[in-house]
Amino acid sequence: MDWAPGDLAERDLYKLLVNTVLPRPIALVTSVDAGGRANAAPFSFFNVFSHAPPLVVLGIEGRDNAPSPLKDTMRNIRKTGSFVVNLVDRAMVEAMQICAIDFPGEIDEIEAAGLATAPSITIAAPRLAASPVQLECRETVSLSLGTRHRNLVVGEIVHLHIRDGIVDERLHVDIDKLDLVGRLHGADWYLGLGDRFQEPRQTLAGWRERTQTTPEGEVS
Ligand SMILES: Cc1cc2nc3c(=O)[nH]c(=O)nc-3n(C[C@H](O)[C@H](O)[C@H](O)COP(=O)(O)O)c2cc1C
Repeated sequence: MDWAPGDLAERDLYKLLVNTVLPRPIALVTSVDAGGRANAAPFSFFNVFSHAPPLVVLGIEGRDNAPSPLKDTMRNIRKTGSFVVNLVDRAMVEAMQICAIDFPGEIDEIEAAGLATAPSITIAAPRLAASPVQLECRETVSLSLGTRHRNLVVGEIVHLHIRDGIVDERLHVDIDKLDLVGRLHGADWYLGLGDRFQEPRQTLAGWRERTQTTPEGEVS
């Protein structure tokens, strides 16, 4: 089957994309409003984009039928120019889901989720103490794309925290100890790092050796 995006209803295009481009890492983003009130929300339109400079990207949708078309996270990033990406491990999944609830303004979602915070070193937004990897970020640029208040946020990592015991003195990361989860299909499916395999990187010389012509003229 094949489609041009314009042939699909917006919701159907969303379903096809998020149910095929997977697994996606999850950023539980903390930010603060102009009054310093903290907010947390998960985003799986997220990835690290480069290391030099160290950039992350977030895709933040607009809100339909809401008093403000911007999600709190986007509004806060616009105001303060900074945020923290807290990566999500298996133990944090339920709390992450609570942070995705569209709470009325008077409810503090971080408190509702039972998450403890820790001050950041370079920015006002707090970190989530339970997260194994916390990236303090300053907004580099945000692009308003599409017609429905969607934003692509590019942020530069200005400080990174990794829980003690995960990285050794040679900077090798123990990914079992990280125990991160990724977003899968449907509304509710996630995966851990359990089913993994190793596939050696290919070299040109190795590829040439394996595909060289045999005396009979056939490619081996
Ligand atoms: C696992 C997960 C991933 C999500 N990814 C995104 C995303 O990439 N972009 C987005 O706009 N909303 C995403 N959401 C929904 C937001 O987290 C949700 O709208 C949240 O209430 C926004 O909160 P805020 O208004 O405090 O920013 C996701 C929700 C979950 C549970």
